[in-house]
Amino acid sequence: MKRIIFATGNEGKLKEIKVILEEPGVEVISMKEAGIEADIEENGTTFEENAVIKARAVAAKTGKIVLADDSGLEIDYLGGEPGVYSARYAGEDTPYTVKNQLLLDRLAGVEKERRTARFVCVIAAVLPDGEVITTRGTIEGYIGFAPAGENGFGYDPIFYVPEYECSTAQLSMEQKNALSHRGKALRAMKEKLQEYLEA
Ligand code: IMP
Repeated sequence: MKRIIFATGNEGKLKEIKVILEEPGVEVISMKEAGIEADIEENGTTFEENAVIKARAVAAKTGKIVLADDSGLEIDYLGGEPGVYSARYAGEDTPYTVKNQLLLDRLAGVEKERRTARFVCVIAAVLPDGEVITTRGTIEGYIGFAPAGENGFGYDPIFYVPEYECSTAQLSMEQKNALSHRGKALRAMKEKLQEYLEA
């Protein structure tokens, strides 16, 4: 059994990641399940920098393949905010019902055409020999006029996709994974890792 450690404490992300990366002989485990504790300061200014910082910090404590992701929501009308600060936006411990309402308030009166936004995800892998690989995925959409849906996590209730004219919190996990930034970045990573996983 090949074990990949995913450097995240976010259960929502871990669930999505397992569905895409796991296959017979390959198991994805969280840092916690691997017994690794790391207090990582995400002080990069790009998604790429932060993903590599997280993966390197955990890789320093194990000889296994370590993956980490960094992701966020970019809203064009707000100049790309909250961007790399998505998790910390309005305070790390502030509930997403509040964060989402805050963003909706900042877009009050802005018409649909100017509410364009995207989720971005960068996955970084650190291999046992120290080599670093990154992949990036995005999903284009717009900020809706009210939150909707119970699935997913974070900003999903306010992020709408034109393919379905509903929020990503209204999609099943399979539908979201097929379209999402994380799904795209992970599938690209899975392909790049194939030779290491088969070895
Ligand atoms: P990270 O853990 O530093 O990558 O934080 C990314 C933050 O961006 C998350 O905590 C969410 O707020 C937001 N985010 C990233 N991907 C998604 C998604 O698929 N749905 C909803 N929010 C997301």
